[in-house]
Amino acid sequence: MPKWLNDAVFYEIYPQSFYDSNGDGIGDINGIIEKLDYVKGLGCNAIWLNPIYDSPFMDAGYDVRDYKKVAPRYGTNDDLVNLFNKAHEMGIKILLDLVPGHTSDTHPWFLEAKKAKESEFSNRYVFTKSVWDAPPQYRMMCGICERDGNYLVNYFSSQPALNYGFNEITHHEWQLPPEHPDCVATVEAIKDVMRFWLDKGADGFRVDMADSLVKNDDEKVATAKIWRGVREMLDKEYPEAAMVSEWCNPERAINNAGFHMDFYLDHYGNGYSRLFRYGDPRSSEAVFNPNGKGDVKAFADEYLPNYESTKNNGYISFMTNNHDMPRVTAGLDKNAIKLISAFIFTMPGVPFLYYGDEIGMKYQANLVSKEGGFSRTGSRTPMQWNSQKNLGFSTGDEPYLPVDKSDDAPTVENQKDDADSIYKVVTDVIALRHKYDDLKGNGELEFVYEEGKIPFYYKRGNLVMFFNPLGKDAEISTEYNGKVVYQIGGAEFADGKVEMKPQSFVMIEL
Ligand code: GLC
Ligand code: CA
Repeated sequence: MPKWLNDAVFYEIYPQSFYDSNGDGIGDINGIIEKLDYVKGLGCNAIWLNPIYDSPFMDAGYDVRDYKKVAPRYGTNDDLVNLFNKAHEMGIKILLDLVPGHTSDTHPWFLEAKKAKESEFSNRYVFTKSVWDAPPQYRMMCGICERDGNYLVNYFSSQPALNYGFNEITHHEWQLPPEHPDCVATVEAIKDVMRFWLDKGADGFRVDMADSLVKNDDEKVATAKIWRGVREMLDKEYPEAAMVSEWCNPERAINNAGFHMDFYLDHYGNGYSRLFRYGDPRSSEAVFNPNGKGDVKAFADEYLPNYESTKNNGYISFMTNNHDMPRVTAGLDKNAIKLISAFIFTMPGVPFLYYGDEIGMKYQANLVSKEGGFSRTGSRTPMQWNSQKNLGFSTGDEPYLPVDKSDDAPTVENQKDDADSIYKVVTDVIALRHKYDDLKGNGELEFVYEEGKIPFYYKRGNLVMFFNPLGKDAEISTEYNGKVVYQIGGAEFADGKVEMKPQSFVMIEL
């Protein structure tokens, strides 16, 4: 287990929207290099970089055309190596985004695979034996290749699924078992990509759709086995490298598959989503909604057993948001977002901050979809730096996506010195996380709540965090009392209880 993860705080950078260093309207790698000081200033010591590979950008780069080449619009491989080096000098780690489940339909492997002529790539993707065969339970593209067969897609139609085999063979003519040499070759090809970037200085990977490899694998046993193998390779060859999975099943991802971290995603109705994410941030069941009527139990009942069973093997990762979900500003007010930040950066695991969330960037509803973003486009708009042209994102006349045009658009410049800003809370709480060992990734957790109530608290070592997300006063009974380390809103300690102001947070040291 790489030691650095225990004190890691990640910043997710969506490269096309971060900072444009050459005025062509698209963010780039040199732009990220210029802003490393900013990242460091937030207290983040690690970066997750969304895909930077060559791509036709039908899905923002998750449709990879060449795994080993930086997309020219972002720069060159040398620029990326330069970013690794500069980041390392500043104590910042960088994870690239690994997309193992599919490629672009313009990837050379696929261009070979779709030919009638057989080649070493004929089984790199999942093809049926004839175009007349298209079982409805699989999402297939039909009748469009020279080859007599249909192929399986993993996400959008432009993303053919790479072939890792089928755990349960239901159609003998074309399904291969995961042990088939051609499926093993797919695994080896992905490991080769990993080694390529790790050798150049990458610190690991965020793994896209990590659970999607082997098909007909309901319990994900065969998929987990592949990742175990990858983890063994890392332990042996790159022991400091880390992997975080887009999976949202910590027991499978961490305990079975060997990921160091697993994201707690916004799956509708799950514990995380019930706290403050989409599907329901505005609904009265969301815990951090000031008008909330639900309770924190839905979260705790799901999170705590997962936390307990994985805490010795890896970390569950909370995130303020990511590039796939509406920014939290779409559904909650500033005070609620401050409390959420206090929560995310004081819980166990390895937290992730999505670019722009530290200044409360707004979700831009109704934008025309860009690069396969669709409703996600509104969370992917250019970073807002200052009051200059395009809010400092680009000197070009037309950024590839419009910047927030509203008069009250938050920027780093106008938030940074504002004592009442989200930025202040985010940076303060991250600083406390680094300061106190009790707040580190693997520090202990005792989560205390009462059924049917929203206010709650948790204890981590000598620190206790109390939350009242409600828009009215609330009382939490507790035996704890101590020195106030940090607060939002306000709270008074009395015998056996703490009286909390509306939408408040207080951290005490015993
Ligand atoms: C993941 C990514 C998402 C992408 C999809 C297909 O969910 O986060 O942005 O569209 O996988 O690769
Ligand atoms: Ca640029």
